[in-house]
Amino acid sequence: MRVIRTRQEMVNSSEVLRQAGEKIAFIPTMGSLHAGHLSLMELAKGHSTKRVASIFVNPKQFNVQSDFDNYPSDEERDFALLRDVEVDLVFAPGREEIYPAGHETEVAVGELAARFEGTDRPGHFQGVATVVSILFNLVRPHVALFGEKDFQQVRIVERLVTDLGFPMEIVRAPLVRDSDGLALSSRNVRLSKEGRGRALQISKALYAVKECFSQGERDVEKMLAAGWALLNATDGVDVEYFEAVRERDLNPVKEIVGDEPYRILTAAYVDGVRLLDNIGL
Ligand code: PAF
Repeated sequence: MRVIRTRQEMVNSSEVLRQAGEKIAFIPTMGSLHAGHLSLMELAKGHSTKRVASIFVNPKQFNVQSDFDNYPSDEERDFALLRDVEVDLVFAPGREEIYPAGHETEVAVGELAARFEGTDRPGHFQGVATVVSILFNLVRPHVALFGEKDFQQVRIVERLVTDLGFPMEIVRAPLVRDSDGLALSSRNVRLSKEGRGRALQISKALYAVKECFSQGERDVEKMLAAGWALLNATDGVDVEYFEAVRERDLNPVKEIVGDEPYRILTAAYVDGVRLLDNIGL
């Protein structure tokens, strides 16, 4: 596995691969890799002949400086994990390679970014859209993979690729859960043992809503009530949002109609850790 540190080397390497007729899959990350990331790397094998991962903790997507400062980082451990899943290239640039002196262009996102994570973390998706656009231009992949765990991010990246005409495909990878149901996240390590127990109510609540839907309920208030019953019964799970949305535009809905995909999105704080989860209906 080759480690690339500079813009120029990344552009050159991508060009060499393309000239050789390779199909490049790209998996952007902020490091601190867990089984969810590794499942993306595995999934990428079926979509490519060469795989490029990036590790870059993007300062522009943190709206609280201390979150950025405390973001866990262990490059050697991440490299070893990437080697194990046979990634070909890892792009691990320094800050000045992605945002050289004088950088001032940002990618603004519209309505899709205006709610949920966008309300709670102003500027977050503009930071994501900006770094993803830079990375796409440097890596020039044929396909890029994003986990459905950050469902709003996936929809924003899909919109970005369409709107800005990036000549590539976005592949969604299913959310990965631990055996107890907790959605995998780099932040889970910050949960206490008791906190982790409380956090399990989040996925249970989502499954309760899905069960209600499977039994034929289409009235969203009634469906969500099945989840709220579990969430409200647990102290120490502070729910930020728990909503049914149309996948297409992430608009909250009152009723599930027709065949188009819908999803329940949620974010909650446990032990002061912000946890995201969602489930497709
Ligand atoms: O999902 C992430 O880890 C980040 O938002 C991404 C896509 C790597 C951009 O920094």
